[in-house]
Amino acid sequence: MNIQWYPGHMTKAKRMMQEDMKLIDIVIELLDARVPISSRNPDIDVLASHKYRLVLLNKCDLADDKVTAKWEAYFKEKQIMAVTVNARDGKGMKNIITKIQEACKEKMERDRKRGILNRPIRAMIVGIPNVGKSTFINSFAKKSCTKVGNKPGVTKGKQWIRINKNVELLDTPGILWPKFEDDMVGEHLAFIGSINDEILQKTELSCELIEFLKINYPKCLSDRYQVDEEMKASDILERIAKNRGCLLKGNELNYEKAAGILLEEFRNGKLGKISIEQPV
Ligand code: G4P
Repeated sequence: MNIQWYPGHMTKAKRMMQEDMKLIDIVIELLDARVPISSRNPDIDVLASHKYRLVLLNKCDLADDKVTAKWEAYFKEKQIMAVTVNARDGKGMKNIITKIQEACKEKMERDRKRGILNRPIRAMIVGIPNVGKSTFINSFAKKSCTKVGNKPGVTKGKQWIRINKNVELLDTPGILWPKFEDDMVGEHLAFIGSINDEILQKTELSCELIEFLKINYPKCLSDRYQVDEEMKASDILERIAKNRGCLLKGNELNYEKAAGILLEEFRNGKLGKISIEQPV
């Protein structure tokens, strides 16, 4: 798959993140619960090597609950604190302050021993584009939180949001870029709509998705599109095109449109709660 990011953007985003990293105690890494591997850039392990960490499995409303539970267990086993959330409706969010404090308890204890009692924990959100960083910040910050302006001694222009007396969040998230070392990553991010459809072969992609669904979520295609799942992926797509009246001029079937419908409905959760990646 030919996916191009602009190195200029990436370099700038990375440099900004490195600068912001100096200001914070804990990195909150947002992953997409449907694709926790592909939505993770392992560079963060180096970038945040001296920071406390918290992983959030976001968009849990779209992911398969059983698989998400497996991911929670996976991170727990690796001694990484992980919380499942839905940044859009706020589900799972009320625990986060406690988790942040839990993750940073060593620092809080150290501060306390030194007689520093009022220094809040500073946190930053990081994640790949479209994973829900802005939504999360808005939802976490709510209206009740006050924006804290520029602080003396702290880089000019940085906005902090006071979540409560113990936690402050950097208003601007850190952008990580997906790591396309494995073809699978590109495909999985394309399934969930994190890569611009313009640069993708929609029909090819939707056939890959059909193959995945046939194996992993039997009946989900037959229930929604009244198709026989024993058929080849391209025949299923043809059937979707017929059933949904996707036609070109001259009554030829419009596969591209059918592919678009399938991808859109999958991404919006209309095919059910579906996870693409499972822990191995
Ligand atoms: P980013 O800053 O990381 O780039 O992501 P952003 O918050 O802009 O979110 C990208 C899309 O993901 C938005 O949808 C947002 O509403 C959606 N989103 C974020 N968190 C969740 C979640 O937990 N569940 C679900 N289902 N969706 C979530 P959009 O269609 O681009 O915008 P809009 O329709 O919300 O306006």
